[in-house]
Amino acid sequence: MSPLRIALLAATACVCLLAAGIFFYQPRSDYAGPIAHGAASTEELLARGEYLVTAGNCASCHTTAGGEFMAGGVAFETPFGRLYSTNITPDAETGIGAWSEQDFVDSMRFGIRPNGEHLYPAFPYTGFSKISDPDLAAMYAYLQRVIPVRQSVPTNELGFPFDRRSLLAFWKFLYLNPGAFEPDSSRSASWNRGAYLVEGLAHCSACHSPRNGLGAERLALAMSGGEYLDRVPGGEHRFWLAPNLTGSDRGLGLWSQEELADYLGTARNAFLESFGPMNEVIMNSTRFLREEDVAAMAEYLKSLPAVDLTVDAVPREQQMGRGRTLYNLHCGTCHLPSGEGDPEMAPRLDRGSLVVQAANPASMINAILYGPELPGPELPQRWREAMEGFQYLLDDEEVAAVASFVRHSWGNAAGAVTPAQVARQR
Ligand code: HEC
Ligand code: HEC
Ligand code: HEC
Repeated sequence: MSPLRIALLAATACVCLLAAGIFFYQPRSDYAGPIAHGAASTEELLARGEYLVTAGNCASCHTTAGGEFMAGGVAFETPFGRLYSTNITPDAETGIGAWSEQDFVDSMRFGIRPNGEHLYPAFPYTGFSKISDPDLAAMYAYLQRVIPVRQSVPTNELGFPFDRRSLLAFWKFLYLNPGAFEPDSSRSASWNRGAYLVEGLAHCSACHSPRNGLGAERLALAMSGGEYLDRVPGGEHRFWLAPNLTGSDRGLGLWSQEELADYLGTARNAFLESFGPMNEVIMNSTRFLREEDVAAMAEYLKSLPAVDLTVDAVPREQQMGRGRTLYNLHCGTCHLPSGEGDPEMAPRLDRGSLVVQAANPASMINAILYGPELPGPELPQRWREAMEGFQYLLDDEEVAAVASFVRHSWGNAAGAVTPAQVARQR
């Protein structure tokens, strides 16, 4: 055999060995008996567990509308197919009632089931991995006390090869960096608390970071805005853009730390009110958090350096002219011709909304087409009248023109929207 052939064979063998090695890669905790959770009583432990489960917003993904608490069956539309969340009530057969504390820790930190099956990262364990051991112990204790529900969830509808859980070993090898959060000693205690919550339990980056073709978060662009499929009013799934939460002047650079804490704590701030997918994040989770925890999250988020790579297309004069006319006709009555909003009628659209400033206009187009869905349960009334959707009134070109006008007026500089971008959201 020629040396080249030997080298080739050796290289192939190495690749096969590596692939086999990864195929059987099953990271797990080195568990040494019950976790020292530090709670003085069972009540204290359960209360802590409940608080943490709220901060993790498990209910939004594990409880269907009108369904039993944590009994699973919520559908997730992904580029790879449809996936359902599981039953995490303590039912022994269909839930996690037969799981040990270690089983739970391994699922949250390593995305693995007791039988060794890998879990799909639609379950945001890349973030949950950062939860501390004592906190995981408290969450386990609480979840074992919720009402057990016997309910199997529908079978996933994923195309080949994504239906093969075994292949997730490769995904995890590349993209899961398991391990509890490590504090940065050069930062304040509240900054570290905020980082722990935002990066771990609250998994904001699951929506707010862009993902690559294999559905993994792109770390270099973390929190600079992510697009994914979610429900619009009416129940269909459309693309949403979770805007830039870094210090960019079209991201959180627009808001003060206090504005952000108000928004997360109450679903409103001086600029605007929540709508769309953030309704669930705030109404099921962040508004129940202690004031100091919300303040810590805001402190951490406001410290993120600006990441913004996009360059926007400036709208053409003709599109701006058409947009101005349409705006004055359909929007200006509430948002005012100056875009500065009205405390009783509508939020400001000039340099206040991250959604309006976002490079990717998907969420703004959803707000215009389907109308912004107010948060529920209902908050004390703020607006005299709800904003209706414009999907039947305006065609793609008109929505593109009015959106471009708003995005490029009154100091906004978010660029042109094309009719094709609107068509994609219908
Ligand atoms: C963004 C949605 C989402 C959130 C938030 C979420 N989960 Fe899940 N979870 C899922 C999905 C989807 C699955 C199913 C994954 C699969 O089938 O591989 C899952 C699976 C699980 C499993 C594995 C159960 C099994 O039978 O294998 C556990 C345990 C779990 N979640 C616990 C939690 C806890 C605790 C929280 C809150 C801290 C939480 N999840 C928050 C979507 C979510
Ligand atoms: C399930 C996906 C998802 C998660 C998780 C999520 N967001 Fe969002 N976020 C969105 C989407 C989509 C939008 C744009 C539409 C809207 O406001 O609902 C958004 C908008 C925002 C806005 C701008 C609101 C505006 O109107 O300008 C802020 C600020 C924000 N999110 C902060 C957070 C923080 C902080 C977290 C973590 C606690 C978080 N988000 C978690 C999807 C998500
Ligand atoms: C009847 C009054 C009314 C009219 C007319 C109206 N809006 Fe609104 N708009 C509102 C209210 C109220 C909200 C806040 C709802 C919420 O956020 O929950 C809102 C929210 C928005 C938002 C979301 C801002 C954010 O990030 O929170 C956008 C974008 C928007 N409107 C654009 C438009 C455009 C463009 C038009 C015209 C095509 C229009 N609106 C017409 C009342 C109106």
